[in-house]
Amino acid sequence: MHAVGIVAAAGSGLRLGADLPKALVPLAGRPLVCWAVDTLLAGGVARVVVAVPASERAAFAAVLARDVVVVDGGATRTASVRAALAAMTDLGHPTPDAVLVHDAARPLTPPDVVARVLAALADGARAVVPVLPMADTVVVVDDAGVVTGAVPRAPLRRVQTPQGFDRATLVAAYAALDDGAEHTDDASVVRAVGVPVVTVAGAERAAKVTVVHDLEVAELQVGT
Ligand code: CTP
Ligand code: MG
Repeated sequence: MHAVGIVAAAGSGLRLGADLPKALVPLAGRPLVCWAVDTLLAGGVARVVVAVPASERAAFAAVLARDVVVVDGGATRTASVRAALAAMTDLGHPTPDAVLVHDAARPLTPPDVVARVLAALADGARAVVPVLPMADTVVVVDDAGVVTGAVPRAPLRRVQTPQGFDRATLVAAYAALDDGAEHTDDASVVRAVGVPVVTVAGAERAAKVTVVHDLEVAELQVGT
C-alpha cells in the first residue's frame, strides 16, 4: 500500500501564546512540525505534504527536509487539509491509495500508532482513527454550572491523529463539503457522507499540545 501523509501545521497557536506559529515552536530544540513529519515517515508513510501558514512558508521550508512538500494552508484546519489534498495530485506516480492526516500539534505520537492505522487500511477499512478511553467521569452542567446528569463513559473515546483514509474516499468526502464548512478532524468529514470509521488503539504520548502545560509535559517526556 502506498500511503502519503498530510500534516496540518497552518494554525497560529493562539492558546499556546508563543511568538511564532505553534508548529514551529521547539520541543527539545526541534520544531513540532519536524517531530510530526518524522513520526509519519517512521511509521510507514512514503511521502509527506505539510500545510503551513501562507505567510510563513520560508520559515517552514527552512526546517523541513527538501523532499517534504509544503503548501499554503487555509483559515481553518478543514481548509488546510483540503489544500494539502489538492496538492497530492502533483506528487507524481504512483498516486497514493491511502492518506494519513496528522496534527503538527501531536509531536510525540509513537510510530506504532501510524503502523496500526496503516494496517487497518490494508485490512480494508476506508477510514481509521486512533482512540483512547476516557479516564474521568463525564457530566453535563446547566448554565449555572450545576451538574444535571452524567454521561455513560464506557462507549466514549478520545480521538487522536494520524487518521487514515482510502484516498479516493477522503477526496470525495471533502468534495462533498460545503464551502466554509468546518470540522475539527477528518473522520467527521467522511462520516458526514456515511463512511464507517473504525478505531485502533491510540497512545497517551500522542496527546495534543494546545496550552503551555502540554508543552511542558512533552518536554518532560523527551527528557530534556
Ligand atoms: N491547523 C491548520 N490550519 C488551520 C488551523 C489549524 O493546519 N487554519 C492545524 C494546526 O496547525 C494544528 C492542528 O490543525 O497542528 C490542530 O489545531 P489546533 O491544535 O487548534 O492548533 P492551532 O489552531 O494552531 O491552535 P489554536 O486553536 O490555539 O490557535
Ligand atoms: Mg485551532
